[in-house]
Amino acid sequence: MTARATDWDPRHLPDLTGRRYLVTGSTAGIGYFACEQLARAGAHVIATGRNPNRLAATKRALLGRVPGASVETLLIDTSNLGSVRAAAATVRASDGLDGLLLNAGIVHPPKRRETTLDGNEVVFATNALGHFALAGELLVPLAQRSGRMVWVGSMATTIAPYDPVDPQLKENYSPWRAYAQSKVATTALGLEAARRLADAHVPVASLVAHPGYSIGGRTPGIEGVHEPTRLTRFADNLQAPFTQSKERGAWPLVRALADPAAASGDFWGPRGLVKGTPRRARPSRITRDPEIGARLWSFCEESARVEWPFARAARVSG
Ligand SMILES: NC(=O)c1ccc[n+]([C@@H]2O[C@H](COP(=O)([O-])OP(=O)(O)OC[C@H]3O[C@@H](n4cnc5c(N)ncnc54)[C@H](OP(=O)(O)O)[C@@H]3O)[C@@H](O)[C@H]2O)c1
Repeated sequence: MTARATDWDPRHLPDLTGRRYLVTGSTAGIGYFACEQLARAGAHVIATGRNPNRLAATKRALLGRVPGASVETLLIDTSNLGSVRAAAATVRASDGLDGLLLNAGIVHPPKRRETTLDGNEVVFATNALGHFALAGELLVPLAQRSGRMVWVGSMATTIAPYDPVDPQLKENYSPWRAYAQSKVATTALGLEAARRLADAHVPVASLVAHPGYSIGGRTPGIEGVHEPTRLTRFADNLQAPFTQSKERGAWPLVRALADPAAASGDFWGPRGLVKGTPRRARPSRITRDPEIGARLWSFCEESARVEWPFARAARVSG
């Protein structure tokens, strides 16, 4: 039975036993809490991150806080295309995926433009390009289970002008522009993926969600994972009227992943824009532009040297 959009209670998720979800950037913030919420609902969680020690701490915390949690860990550095490919090969050797949460992100970009080993601008590479490659590499396991991918957008898509000709900001780099540019890209790619998956008859949904304004000092402490200082707590609590915890920030992302009523092409965010329970929302105009989406898609195919296997994914599911 399909649930109505209003039936969702983020504190009491439907039973997800038997489902398998992979989350990028699980070692902190919103990604950690998304793992916890999925595990609490009975799902098997593949928690991923770029640092083995932080991943081990994440697994310890999940097992400690969610009795009987089903969790495995996997190294994925989303800024590194080799790491993305190696991890995807490991996942493909297992049992299919119900959902992929493309959450990892640099939220405080470097002051000056930096590039990765692959030669890509580091914020674009981490937030957008690595996820484009990962989602393509995992399309077949997602199709095996008629799964979903959820891209993580941001209200920041409207704070700086987007340059469609120079997504990696070879010219006019600034930290804010790099962040906004990368989040226009994740959102536009998520919406473009929804169009392409439908055209190719692949039964995989692509959705976008954003967490409002979710900050560390308003977030429960988790030993070894999230231990904000008193000063951070004090400063962040001064922003209480227009912020929320990262635990709540995970709500729209988890809903997009797991609510049967959420559909491909949807955009989810907090009810009060910056905070609140999740509801369907409208992405910014630039991210809805199909020309921007198509242009980014070609740019990412070329930069990541990945073509999504639409035909194979359609056959696997058929
Ligand atoms: N918080 C907000 O208000 C807000 C608003 C809009 C959008 N978002 C988006 O929500 C997502 C999560 O944000 P957050 O607030 O939870 O940030 P966060 O607390 O800084 O956590 C970011 C996570 O991404 C991981 N990460 C960074 N670079 C990585 C890489 N190269 N490979 C793999 N993982 C990497 C970090 O891993 P390490 O532990 O190794 O650093 C960490 O686990 C981001 O995509 C962000 O853009 C957040």
